[in-house]
Formats: sequence, C-alpha cells, structure tokens
Amino acid sequence: MINETIYNELMQKYKDHFGFQPEVVSYAPGRIEVLGNHTDYNEGYVFSAAINFGTFFAARKAEGGTCRLVAGDLMKEVSFDAGSIEASDSDGWQNYVKGTLAGLAENGTVDCGFDGMFLGNIPLGSGLSSSAALEMSTGLALAKLYGITVDPVALAKIGQKAEHDYAGCNCGLLDQISSLAGESGKLVKTDFRTVEFEPVAIGDDVCFLMCNTLSKHALVDGAYNKLRVACEQCAEHFGKVLTHPVKSLRDVSMAEWAIYKQDLPERVASCGAHPIGEDERVLLGAELLEKGDLEGFGGLMFDSHESSRVLFGNSCEELDFVVATAKKIPGALGARLSGGGFGGSAVVLVNPRDAETVAAALESAFSSKYGHPCEVSVITPSQGAHLVS
Ligand code: GLA
Repeated sequence: MINETIYNELMQKYKDHFGFQPEVVSYAPGRIEVLGNHTDYNEGYVFSAAINFGTFFAARKAEGGTCRLVAGDLMKEVSFDAGSIEASDSDGWQNYVKGTLAGLAENGTVDCGFDGMFLGNIPLGSGLSSSAALEMSTGLALAKLYGITVDPVALAKIGQKAEHDYAGCNCGLLDQISSLAGESGKLVKTDFRTVEFEPVAIGDDVCFLMCNTLSKHALVDGAYNKLRVACEQCAEHFGKVLTHPVKSLRDVSMAEWAIYKQDLPERVASCGAHPIGEDERVLLGAELLEKGDLEGFGGLMFDSHESSRVLFGNSCEELDFVVATAKKIPGALGARLSGGGFGGSAVVLVNPRDAETVAAALESAFSSKYGHPCEVSVITPSQGAHLVS
C-alpha cells in the first residue's frame, strides 16, 4: 500500500516545477535489519524487512543529454550530463541517483537525459537505508524509462556500486535486496553467498519499533569500511589455518574461531567473531520462527546487540541505552542496533498491542537521560519496491 499523501505531493510538485506530468513513477521502501549484522559482505545470512516508509521517484525523458534532478523535500535542482556522470561533493543525494544511472548505462542504452524528482518519508541518517531506497526507486524508474532490463539482483548490485563508487561506503547488498524483496507481513531471509532470498512469515503478533537516537550515523566516514577490512583480514587468516576452504567468514564456525584466533591481532579477532556469531544466530532464529518462538527470537536480537557492543565495536552509548532499557520493559521482546551502527537507530521487537506503551516508555527513559526523546516509528514489514504507474 503506497502513501497517497506523499505520492500526490510529488505529482503536484513535479507538475508545478517541470510544467508536465512524469512518464514513470516508482516507489522503493527503506529497510530494517532484524538479525545478522555485517554478515552480508561476509557472505552470510540476514533477516531483514522492507518497511512502511519509502521514496517515490518520478521521471520523464528529456530532449538532449541533460538530466535535471530535484530533491522534492528541499525543492533543490541539480543538473548533469547523462553521458559524463561524475560524483559531486555537494548535495550528496544526487550521487545515489548518478551512480544508479551510471550502472544502468552499463546494462543498456541511455540515449538522452531525464527530468526527475524524488520525495519520500524515510528519516535521513536514521539507519533505515534512505540511500538504498533512493537508488532502487531511481533504478526501477529509469530502467523503465530507458527500456533497460535488469533483474532484481543486478539492480541491487547497481545500487551497491553507486554506494561504493559515488558515496564512498563499501557496503554489502543487504539494503538494496531488502528494499526490492520485501513482502507485506514477512521478513526477508537472504543468503548473501548465493544472493537467494525468501519471504518468512512472522505472523500478526509482530511489529517493530525503530528508535532513532539522533546520534551520528557515520558510515561514510570510514568506520564501516575499516570493519569490513578487519573481517577480510580475519577470513584470510582462517583460510591459512583451517584445512577446509575459507572464502569468507561464512566458512568459519565459532568453535574454529575459538581454537585458531590466537595468532590474530586482538581487534581483528574480535571483529571476526561478530559476523560468525551472527550467522549462527540467524540460522537458529529461523528455527525459532518456524516454531513461533518470538521470545526466543527476541533473545537472539539482544545477543546480537551484545556482540556488536563487545566484539565488533559498532554500537554507541545511546544505542546501548535504548537496548538496555528495552530489556527492562515488559512487552519489548528483543532489541538491537540495525544496520551499520555507530549511531542511528535501534530496532525493537514488540507485539502490536504493546507498541504504544513500549514506545512511550523508551521515549521517556531516553528523554530523562539525554534531555530529548528518541524518535520512535512503528515499523510493519511491507511490500518491496515497484513501479507505481
Ligand atoms: C549497512 C550496509 C549493509 C550492511 C549493514 C550491516 O546497512 O549498507 O550492507 O552491511 O550496514 O549489516
């Protein structure tokens, strides 16, 4: 179900700004990461969901090679040439669109510019992947506009490349896949070795609270990339000491880690333990969900956060506070940081009937401690990206 208010606002703004209607409109949601942190680029497993917040992208072909792109919330326009796309230092949002267009052009012919505008309701920098939603909405709309055929995994990879080459974050494929593969009322379970995903029903007794701590979400400042390098160093070590093939940390068990971690620098060893443990938790979580054991699943979310906090070092004081507070609130079944870390949001598993009381308790505790409430949004797993018209 699309948010008609935002869709109508975009249509109106588009017409007022460009003087005509768009030819195509697409929609792509943000995502929450429910279990499996920093496992995607280690070829492991993740439970995630597309969310009920997203971005619309409206576009029409333009004569000549110029692309005019408007951020509909700011009503700010930038322009660039479709034939010579370069990353820009200002107005960072344009880089996600530029990178996606560049990726599409490698899969087909971009023979002219476009007039495009995007508008959405994902809080920026909150860890809900507004950038992936922009890439995937751009990708669907412009692929349709230029008649370029790309399957979902190829489109996700185009978005990922835009992040790497145009935004400087060496992310995995989680955000893009979740935005594309989401289904209403279902989690997405993805195996990032094969990039195969499946919907997993979680029942009606589940929703999530996303608690934005409003603390800095510093993925492009290099912290994320450093963790990725540490994981790769760790995998390389295990490739040398284990007798079976190790392509990535996915191939290492916790038991093997415990025996063979000694020769690694302490920080590299502890970083590696996090995705290894997360993979084991996702697989166990799948079994618990099948049995309908939401409390058990929530417990794994708490464990996941502890692993981020202690082993991986990608949490922060505010996120730790939200998770520790959630642990004490009846009705909060599980909580953990969601996404890259270093700030942003914690995701809390609740029964919809408890959502309001748990949200109020979290806001008030956060407010007493930090002088302002955390921003809590109720998240329901929702349909993934699609063309609207
Ligand atoms: C960010 C990245 C994803 C993934 C998560 C952590 O959201 O974009 O690729 O690595 O962090 O799991």
